[in-house]
Amino acid sequence: MAESMTSLTGQVVVVMGGSAGIGLETARQAGAAGARVVITGRDRERLEKAAVEVGAERAMTLDLNDAGQLGQVFADLPEQLDHILVGGSGPFYAPLPELDFDEAERFMNQHLVGSLRIARLCIGRVRAGGSLTFISGTGARRPGIGLMMAAIGTASLSAIVANAAVELAPIRVNTVAAGFVDTPLSARLLGDQLEDRRAELRATLPIGRVVGPEDVAALVVHLMTNGALTGATYDVDGGQQLLSR
Ligand SMILES: NC(=O)c1ccc[n+]([C@@H]2O[C@H](COP(=O)([O-])OP(=O)(O)OC[C@H]3O[C@@H](n4cnc5c(N)ncnc54)[C@H](OP(=O)(O)O)[C@@H]3O)[C@@H](O)[C@H]2O)c1
Repeated sequence: MAESMTSLTGQVVVVMGGSAGIGLETARQAGAAGARVVITGRDRERLEKAAVEVGAERAMTLDLNDAGQLGQVFADLPEQLDHILVGGSGPFYAPLPELDFDEAERFMNQHLVGSLRIARLCIGRVRAGGSLTFISGTGARRPGIGLMMAAIGTASLSAIVANAAVELAPIRVNTVAAGFVDTPLSARLLGDQLEDRRAELRATLPIGRVVGPEDVAALVVHLMTNGALTGATYDVDGGQQLLSR
């Protein structure tokens, strides 16, 4: 019989990057659906505040760039996990002539090798039918100046989840690809252009409003609870990729 589509009662849900934005909203919705939520992030103060806000069972410090810390966090988590969301650090935009190769290597290491590390750590820990979900983006699907690294990152993640879904089965592995989402990350990236961007999106997006972290979180929770979904990339962008930039 299919798993319940709405309840996460008693299930252990780990949200990496759970102290702000999409991760925070996912932690909130998973908690509201009955999950035992664990959140991770780098900044301890923000993490503890978020844990109280969403009623998380645990808050664990983790920098996704640190492979040793990642292994330690998995060692400290409950033995059986039900669902994991990997949010985390933002995109990397740089035109090729200005590319800093040390930064490029760090980005690749975290997004590609880091994703493989997390996938491997799930083996034997995430239960059959449980899920691993990564957050990716739709913004670099079309080539553009400065989008090279973001494009490689997002295309690679789709390849990783498709292959991991086969290798990790019956654990399910998916990616959620978001367009603009109104989060603290977007506010930091856009600075004083944030309001103009929101207004532009409200005027042009087919949905007539800006996508919020709760919209993305709802899709992530659906991927956790719908046991038929694996190996795919699911877009949530309000139709943004249908527009000509
Ligand atoms: N917002 C968008 O428009 C958008 C669109 C497409 C894709 N995405 C992707 O979605 C993910 C979440 O984005 P968001 O907008 O929700 O970002 P956000 O508002 O900045 O929240 C990011 C969360 O991840 C944590 N984090 C950041 N860097 C980390 C690292 N290196 N290691 C561990 N934790 C880290 C942050 O806490 P600490 O800083 O304390 O660690 C925070 O909890 C990102 O991967 C982003 O690229 C976002």
